[in-house]
Amino acid sequence: MRFVKRFIALSSSLLISVFSLSLVFAQDASGSNVPFTAEQLEQGSEKYAAHCAACHGGELEGGAFPALKGEAFQNKWGGESLNDLHTYIMENMPLGQAGVLSEEEYLDVLALILSHNGVEAGDTELTADVVADHEFPAAQ
Ligand code: HEC
Repeated sequence: MRFVKRFIALSSSLLISVFSLSLVFAQDASGSNVPFTAEQLEQGSEKYAAHCAACHGGELEGGAFPALKGEAFQNKWGGESLNDLHTYIMENMPLGQAGVLSEEEYLDVLALILSHNGVEAGDTELTADVVADHEFPAAQ
């Protein structure tokens, strides 16, 4: 009987660990921990100001052109492959001048967009590999 109790206790703690592990992975998939560094953010702000702000607003708030943060934007891209957004930007933006930034600069601008959509800077760089296996954060 004691053995059975111990077995039950052990299996439930195992279950709890598996459950919390899956929560960690679920968070990853939701994109809320897509990594980028503060330096990428800073570079991204400069590039954004020079190449994007005129159309999308200094704070990504939009205007005549779409906002790159907030509910509508997050409802559109949230849960979608980050790679799709990144590719869309590289192939279409700045409008009429696609490809004017280097691959690295496009990643920096993507970091800026992520930061305006609730993701915090950290120690790990945003790279093409990271972009390839993350999603854009879901609407908050
Ligand atoms: C000359 C104006 C202009 C500039 C400069 C510009 N964009 Fe855009 N952008 C647009 C327009 C217009 C659209 C909407 C296109 C459409 O709906 O087909 C758009 C759409 C987007 C979208 C998709 C928005 C959505 O709701 O899905 C993203 C992301 C984006 N731009 C990012 C950028 C970035 C990053 C830069 C700078 C590298 C940039 N844009 C520069 C005009 C501009």
